Amino acid sequence: MQRQNIQWFPGHMAKTRRLIGEKLPLIDLVAEIIDARIPYSSRNPELNEWVKSKPRIILLNKCDMADESVTNEWVERLNDKNTVAIPIDCKTGSGFNKFIPSVKNILQDRIKKLEEKGMAGKTLKVMIVGIPNVGKSSFINRIAGTNRAKVENRPGVTRGNQWFMIGKGVEMMDTPGVLWPKFEDNTVGEHLAFCGSVKDTVLDVELLAMDLIKELKVLYPQMIIDRYKLKCDLENTDDYDILTELGKNRGMKISGGDVDTERMANTFLEEFRNTKIGRITLEKPLNN
Ligand code: G4P
Repeated sequence: MQRQNIQWFPGHMAKTRRLIGEKLPLIDLVAEIIDARIPYSSRNPELNEWVKSKPRIILLNKCDMADESVTNEWVERLNDKNTVAIPIDCKTGSGFNKFIPSVKNILQDRIKKLEEKGMAGKTLKVMIVGIPNVGKSSFINRIAGTNRAKVENRPGVTRGNQWFMIGKGVEMMDTPGVLWPKFEDNTVGEHLAFCGSVKDTVLDVELLAMDLIKELKVLYPQMIIDRYKLKCDLENTDDYDILTELGKNRGMKISGGDVDTERMANTFLEEFRNTKIGRITLEKPLNN
């Protein structure tokens, strides 16, 4: 069986680059939303060039699905003088209360300058960017709440206006900048596919599940042993044989008595995506 390469269309990226380039002069801060389970693969490093030195908030979303201790390591790694990292969860709203205070904190010099110029009331403008499926729409919907309509109905603001109020003196652009992942190596595509950010209809699900088993048996062996009641020695068992044992333990047989490994592969991937296996982070900050 051949592993298939995952490709994106460069045209999408060019459109986002244009959008960000056009709006950048209006924006005070870029909020980059990433997937806390794969903080490396869910970013596009080119963003740094496009937004240059604009202050940044990195939202590690889906932290309800990620390993909390690794999320904390990422927060520590990503924080620097121009960047604040915040773990959030769009399902419950956890971490959302830190967003507006962080925007104001990171922009305190700008706020001071505006006050000095007698423009204390000027709103701060935030643009949200991120690759598909990280939760941009979920974030915007939750943070906007009912305020979204209010801004659109303001006198002198046309319906097509793309800014809405998210807190006192802070507005956000309605249209997120859709970034595209950077497939520098196979791992990036695989991790996106594990997390459901790349459609697996174009992928071989058995190979994908075996690749996920390969990673989990090193990173979180006990979670798969416990959930699937595995008896085999994970370290010394072939990934296909592990997939077969998973299917056997779930009673997934086809006529003739063989294990239906394709069905088990689908179930395994689905259970990973639904956090049934556990809260898992596939990528740790690299030591450098
Ligand atoms: P996007 O605009 O960046 O493409 O992402 P979107 O908000 O559409 O979110 C993609 C999927 O991720 C959605 O699930 C959404 O519910 C889910 N999601 C977003 N944020 C979180 C989070 O913090 N935690 C969890 N657990 N899930 C999150 P879906 O299956 O595509 O849709 P649905 O189940 O919500 O209908």
